[in-house]
Amino acid sequence: MRVEDLVYFCAPARLVMGAGCRAQLPALLHRLGYRRGLVVTDTFFTGATPWVDELVAGARAHDVELLVYDGGMPDPTTTLCDAATAAVRERLGGLPVDHVIALGGGSNIDLAKALCLTLPGGRPVRAFLGRIDAGTPILPLIAMPTTAGTGSEATPGAILVDPDNATKVAVMDNRLRPGVALVDPEFTYTCPPRVTADAGIDALTHAIESYLTLDSARFDRGGDPDPGYSGRNALTMLFAHESIRLCGRYLLRSYRDGSDTEARIGMSYASVYAALSYGSAGLNAVHGIAYAVAGLTHLSHGTTNAVMLPYVLDVLADVRREELLAIARLLDIAESDPDIAVARVPGAVRELVAAVGLPTTLQACGVGQGDIDALVRDALGVARLAKAFPVPDVPARYAAIVRNAWAGTLPAEAQTRAHPRRVA
Ligand SMILES: NC(=O)c1ccc[n+]([C@@H]2O[C@H](COP(=O)([O-])OP(=O)(O)OC[C@H]3O[C@@H](n4cnc5c(N)ncnc54)[C@H](O)[C@@H]3O)[C@@H](O)[C@H]2O)c1
Repeated sequence: MRVEDLVYFCAPARLVMGAGCRAQLPALLHRLGYRRGLVVTDTFFTGATPWVDELVAGARAHDVELLVYDGGMPDPTTTLCDAATAAVRERLGGLPVDHVIALGGGSNIDLAKALCLTLPGGRPVRAFLGRIDAGTPILPLIAMPTTAGTGSEATPGAILVDPDNATKVAVMDNRLRPGVALVDPEFTYTCPPRVTADAGIDALTHAIESYLTLDSARFDRGGDPDPGYSGRNALTMLFAHESIRLCGRYLLRSYRDGSDTEARIGMSYASVYAALSYGSAGLNAVHGIAYAVAGLTHLSHGTTNAVMLPYVLDVLADVRREELLAIARLLDIAESDPDIAVARVPGAVRELVAAVGLPTTLQACGVGQGDIDALVRDALGVARLAKAFPVPDVPARYAAIVRNAWAGTLPAEAQTRAHPRRVA
């Protein structure tokens, strides 16, 4: 508890977790009163796993009919969403569905969230960008993540790519949070190393970024009576703390050996706990700059987060010293001097990024030195993230972060190496 906290905590109404827990879903669907639903997934799951067939058969045995749409794609576009809306509505022939089930990574979950909005009325998803009208019907969503991960099973938004200008847009509303998040770590056992690394770094970024973000008491909710994000508080920090510990213990293990079930289960929990933190606290500079980098390079969400995370941490030692020390301890940084331990966090995170095969500089992502100013400008343009960065001069720090990330320099860490006692 912190006396100054202003808690606005939102989470899925039901969180079902544990290896093999997917077997519980058919009976739960019946108990919740559902009778006809839509499963949103992609061809990997219909073609290479038995999970979709098992779900459909199990549901039928409980009087629930499920229609399957397996046209999900990585980083879904608004165009894909509108095509899916039309295809599903045609197959339904006017019959309503009373729920949607997402099976897949963040991409399929986000597509399913968007369909919860568009299926009832058939309108294009762009009609729902910005504030969603209170009277808009939204179908209930059950999310089953197969990566560990994005945490989309616990967040209020769907991220879509706008193909007109290659930027990411969001549909966002607390009513889009899944009513049921069913997290069966066995779903992640088939993730290839590249997907494991991307998703795992995404989870670590969510945990660290929300652990360090602006306090709830200082967060500007913009007058929203039902904010999706509202700054960190002691409750969100509990989840973030445990998520960072689990990522420190299991991320590299799950990448190096996908059959390490303890590591897979650990990362599934890490991902959900990170989402229970950032899903209310919100995010800031890593994601804000990463979106701009993704717009330029078209690299994946996890990769662009991974490259920025160490450089953002390096400029936070003056405002988040205690928290960085806690992170140093959680990541087992073997250094008894607290100042040196704090300064070593960015480098340790960068080593982890490199160890899972992801780039550690913007140069290595193909960004030119001439792109730096535009990247800073575009990142600052994501105002909802920039305003939550807990530093006095956000534009100056964003500029320093991008310059450092381009060149691969960690000035705070370098300074401590040279003068161990000088870092505050
Ligand atoms: N809404 C949110 O809160 C939120 C948060 C973070 C990220 N995202 C979005 O999530 C997306 C990234 O999601 P992701 O990292 O989970 O990857 P993904 O969903 O894009 O999947 C990547 C690939 O991995 C495959 N895959 C997924 N699970 C698998 C499994 N168990 N076995 C084998 N293959 C598997 C998929 O079929 C796909 O081809 C991005 O579009 C990002 O914008 C959303």
